[in-house]
Amino acid sequence: MDKRFSGKSVLVAGGTGGLGRAVSIAFLEEGAKVVVTYRNQKEWEDLKEIGDSNPSSLAGHRVDVTDEAEVEQFVQKIVAEYGHLDVMVNTVGAYAGGTKLWETDPKVFDQMLSLNLRSGFLLLRAVVPAMLKQKRGAIINISSRAAVDHAAGGAAYATAKAAAVAMIDSLAADLKGTGVRVNSILPSIIDTEANRKAMPNADFAQWPKAGDIARVILFLSSDEAQLIHGAAVPVYGNS
Ligand SMILES: NC(=O)c1ccc[n+]([C@@H]2O[C@H](COP(=O)([O-])OP(=O)(O)OC[C@H]3O[C@@H](n4cnc5c(N)ncnc54)[C@H](OP(=O)(O)O)[C@@H]3O)[C@@H](O)[C@H]2O)c1
Repeated sequence: MDKRFSGKSVLVAGGTGGLGRAVSIAFLEEGAKVVVTYRNQKEWEDLKEIGDSNPSSLAGHRVDVTDEAEVEQFVQKIVAEYGHLDVMVNTVGAYAGGTKLWETDPKVFDQMLSLNLRSGFLLLRAVVPAMLKQKRGAIINISSRAAVDHAAGGAAYATAKAAAVAMIDSLAADLKGTGVRVNSILPSIIDTEANRKAMPNADFAQWPKAGDIARVILFLSSDEAQLIHGAAVPVYGNS
């Protein structure tokens, strides 16, 4: 029996990270051909072990998604190889916080913008033209609850994530009626290994699981979500 994403090609940027890995696995389980970007060889080897049950469905490319030329070449290559690109999920991002705005190093501010905003911009510039040619496609950009809840000590991250939501919202207006849909996801603190290490005394049970967020992403990427375009979807669970 055909699975929900059989015959579909899916790009997961940052697809070996805490959330990205869960997203990549969920798409593989639903029959998609998945291409991930990665930076860390060990993370890629770990994901490959899971994809080994059907290795032709999983490919990985080492790409710096803040580098315009690398992103362009990479997207052109996968579109040429698969003939179409049905879904793009951008899970690349990074967090820095714990400093008041006036104490924030400008390098950290730039890094937050680069990883949480520019990464998405470059991926979108490369992916959207290919999807417009096909007259279909679904794009999910991972923002954060911090885009709308602006806590103390997190100005650089909140700025970048809020701008990412604005970028997707404006892009949604550009894409109206084209068959290409674009949405943002706003996770609160996710139950990842890195967060458990960083906050050992927290109540992990309250944190949304990466696999549950992946299910929301697959729904938004599916034809069942045809009416959802330009949304910023909170995935906070009980937190
Ligand atoms: N974790 C949370 O609690 C949480 C909450 C709200 C929102 N989010 C957002 O959700 C998304 C996923 O978070 P996560 O916890 O899964 O983070 P993560 O584990 O750090 O995953 C991010 C992935 O992006 C990769 N990456 C970083 N810089 C890159 C670059 N220049 N080029 C290509 N890849 C790059 C990372 O590679 P390396 O491992 O090599 O750095 C990593 O594989 C992010 O946008 C994050 O801001 C997370």
